[in-house]
Amino acid sequence: MIAQTAPMGWNSWNTFGENISDQLIRETADAMVEQGYRDAGYEYLVIDDCWSLRERDAEGKLVADPAKFPHGMKAVADYVHSKGLKFGMYSCAGIRTCAGYPSSYDHEFVDAQTFADWGVDFLKYDFCNFPDSADCKTRYATMSMALKATGREILFSACNWGREDPWSWMRSIGVQMYRSTGDIQDNFISFTSILRSQIPNFCMSGNFCFNDIDMLTVGMYGRGNVAFGNACTDSDYRTQFALWALFSAPLMLGGDIRNMNDFCKQLVLNRNLIRINQDIESRNPYQVFDGKAQYGAPDWWNNADHTALTFIKHMSDGEFAIGYFNLGEKAGEVSFTFADAGLPYGSGYGFELTDAFTGEKLGVKRDYFNPVVPPHDCAVYLARIARV
Ligand code: GLA
Repeated sequence: MIAQTAPMGWNSWNTFGENISDQLIRETADAMVEQGYRDAGYEYLVIDDCWSLRERDAEGKLVADPAKFPHGMKAVADYVHSKGLKFGMYSCAGIRTCAGYPSSYDHEFVDAQTFADWGVDFLKYDFCNFPDSADCKTRYATMSMALKATGREILFSACNWGREDPWSWMRSIGVQMYRSTGDIQDNFISFTSILRSQIPNFCMSGNFCFNDIDMLTVGMYGRGNVAFGNACTDSDYRTQFALWALFSAPLMLGGDIRNMNDFCKQLVLNRNLIRINQDIESRNPYQVFDGKAQYGAPDWWNNADHTALTFIKHMSDGEFAIGYFNLGEKAGEVSFTFADAGLPYGSGYGFELTDAFTGEKLGVKRDYFNPVVPPHDCAVYLARIARV
C-alpha cells in the first residue's frame, strides 16, 4: 500500500535540469537525512530527465550515462536506500523524453523491469514526443501494468500535464499521482495560476491517487532550471507551500536542499503545515467568500480584483485548517464569516485557532477572524469547534 497520503520527496528537475550526477544524488540523500527532511516525511529522492545515454544498449535496455553515474544506477539506489529513503527515476510515454533521451514507448515492460532491477521505488512518467497515432490512456495503463508485472512496489507518478482530464481516469489505472498542469516556474504568477486551474478538480484528488500540481520551487530564488519572470520572494514561498499543503498536493521539493536558507528550510519542515497536507482523510478544502461557499468551481477568474481567498479544510479528529490568502499587491484584511463556512453565529460555537506557522494560540473566535495579510502572503490556522 503506497500513497495513502500525498507523496513527499525531492526531484532534481527544477534546480538541476540536466546537471545531475552520482555525487549530487548522494549529497542530496545525505542532506535529506542530516537536515531533517526525511524525518519530516520527505521520503522519495527522484532523478528526473537526462540520466541516460542517448541510445539503448544492444539488448534494447536503457543505460545510465557513465559520465554522470560512473557506478551505475543500482549503486545510486543502494546508497539512497541505505539512508532510509526511497529512490525515484524518470521516463516518458513517448518516443523520446522531453530532453531527447530514449523513452519507454513500446519498451514499457523491458524498462519497468530495468527500473525494478535497479531498486527503483517511484517512476515519474512524462508525455513528450508521444505519437499522434497512439492512445494516451492505453499507454499510461500499459506502463502501469508493466510496473505491476515486475512484482516490485513502484509508485507511478504519471505526468501528462492534464491531457484528457486525468482526474477522471488515472485513479482507475493504478496511478498514485498525476500531473494536471504544465511546468511550474519560480514566479508568483506561475504557481498561483497552476493552483487555481485545479480548484475545480481537487475534489477528485485523494488518498492513493493525488492531483500533482508540480514540484515546489521553494528556496530557488530565481536560480536553476525553471527560473523565468520575477523570482519568488519569501512571501510567495509561504503562499506556495501553504496552498500545496491545504490542497493535499504531493510535496516534492525542487530547491537545492543541500543549501536551503533557514527561512525556506523551516517553512518546508513546518510540522503543522505538513500535518495539514498529510492529514489521513486528504480532503480538498472549500472556498468561502462574499456570503457563500464554493465547493469546486472557483470564483476568482470571474472577478479579476478578487485577490483575497479563503479556504477551510476538514481534517481528521474534528480538526480544521483555515487559510487566508492575499494574492493582491497591497496589505489588507482577508475576511469571511464562519456562518458562510457552515458555523453560524447563533449556533453558540466558534473556532479555537492556532497559528499554523508560529504555533501561537489565539483563543476562541466567534463569527469571524479577519487577519491583516501582507501582499502575496497568507495566514493559516489550525482550528477546532469550541463553545463560546
Ligand atoms: C517535462 C515535465 C517536467 C520535467 C521535464 C524534463 O517538461 O513536465 O516536469 O520532467 O519534462 O525534461
